[in-house]
Amino acid sequence: MSAAAPAIPFPAAFGDWRPDSWRARPAMQLPTYPDAEALDRAVEELGQLPPLVTSWEIFALKKQLAEAQEGKRFVLQGGDCAESFSDCESGLISNRLKVLLQMSLVLVHGLQLPVVRVGRFAGQYAKPRSTDMETRGEITLPSYRGDLVNGPEFTAQARIPDPQRMIRAHSRSAMTMNFVRALIDGGFADLHHPEYWNLSWVGYSPLANEYQQMVADIGGAVRFMETLAGAEVHNLNRIDFYTSHEALLLPYEQALTREVPRQHGWLNLSTHYPWIGMRTAAVDGAHVEYLRGVRNPIAVKVGPSVKPDQLLALMDILNPDDEPGRLTFIHRMGAAQIAEKLPPLLEAVKRDGRRVLWVCDAMHGNTESTSNGFKTRRFDNVRGEVEQAFDIHAAVGTRLGGVHLELTGEDVTECTGGARELTDVDLERAYRSTVDPRLNYEQSLEIAMSIVRKQRQLQATVA
Ligand code: PEP
Ligand code: CO
Repeated sequence: MSAAAPAIPFPAAFGDWRPDSWRARPAMQLPTYPDAEALDRAVEELGQLPPLVTSWEIFALKKQLAEAQEGKRFVLQGGDCAESFSDCESGLISNRLKVLLQMSLVLVHGLQLPVVRVGRFAGQYAKPRSTDMETRGEITLPSYRGDLVNGPEFTAQARIPDPQRMIRAHSRSAMTMNFVRALIDGGFADLHHPEYWNLSWVGYSPLANEYQQMVADIGGAVRFMETLAGAEVHNLNRIDFYTSHEALLLPYEQALTREVPRQHGWLNLSTHYPWIGMRTAAVDGAHVEYLRGVRNPIAVKVGPSVKPDQLLALMDILNPDDEPGRLTFIHRMGAAQIAEKLPPLLEAVKRDGRRVLWVCDAMHGNTESTSNGFKTRRFDNVRGEVEQAFDIHAAVGTRLGGVHLELTGEDVTECTGGARELTDVDLERAYRSTVDPRLNYEQSLEIAMSIVRKQRQLQATVA
């Protein structure tokens, strides 16, 4: 998915770390498998299967994230809250890719910066849950923890954690990855043909004119450059695309943690850019222990209860050598809390002086329930959190280097508001998520456009 990058020097020793040293630490959010031997067998089988990504791609991404830390790139990370096995289907995969390509086009054009495109896919199969058990009426069963662990159906059988699901998740991730790589290598992302990524909304959306105008501007610029050069401009037909998921189910992550020839240390080869969720970010916990030892770029979700000391301790453990591109903090405070909770964290990290990349997840602090029983997010809160994040970083003198969003290329109605002003009643029409509500394609594009507007407004104030 990307060109080879030069090897980065190996950081200071990882001490007594091993791919399974997390087992000695308190582990949150892991299922209890009824058959421990079946789990061991699945981990062993998975350990023999080929990896999903390569070390070159991982190091190339790390370098791009280091550039994002310096303000030379912007990160767009997005996809489903959770993939499901049944969603491993060509239309859904290509539509998700299309919406991410369209958003990145808006961002590249508007921000005048290269965009690092990172999907929340090809492995986003495990979910943290707020309660271990779910009760419906008289019946209480273990919670659904994502297709990597158990099934969503509310039956005792479906909810039993099954280690063979890890093997299926690996296959589905490989199929997803293979299709995305083939599309991109085949020219799907070619800037000469942005119509390849048109989703049906482009024909009738309130946002269509603005988007089409931008595509026409870019087409004009490409033709101008090609006329000037007397030849086709190369490199417009290929892009880098990276994958990420929450590194939650540690036996799965461990099985895909490998050493590779001519590189020191260990890499998680199930994804380019694993992250630690908010509920598993304890400094002395199993997830932090596992991720400290892999050389991938990694991220940690930072919620409203995190204190400055905790962030500094995470930096000590996860990036002891202050390596560029290594560590991202994804803040997810919610539109109502970001103004109060974020500044002290930014100030502490700024004072400390070590490098991190700041990314805003504008979804997970904004979840609410409607009176008709849907879990939703209001578009205005999502956009409001991103816009506030830009302002807060500017005021503190830090840099917002990217956004993290839950989105889909489908015409779902899961988040309210947006250009089409979806209401609670509209949620009944096309609510498909089994977990968190996602922005639909139109709402996603609208966020990209509002990021550009916000950035321009900030630049105008500085100028
Ligand atoms: C998620 O990204 O789906 C998630 C559960 O996020 P967080 O850990 O920030 O709650
Ligand atoms: Co989610």
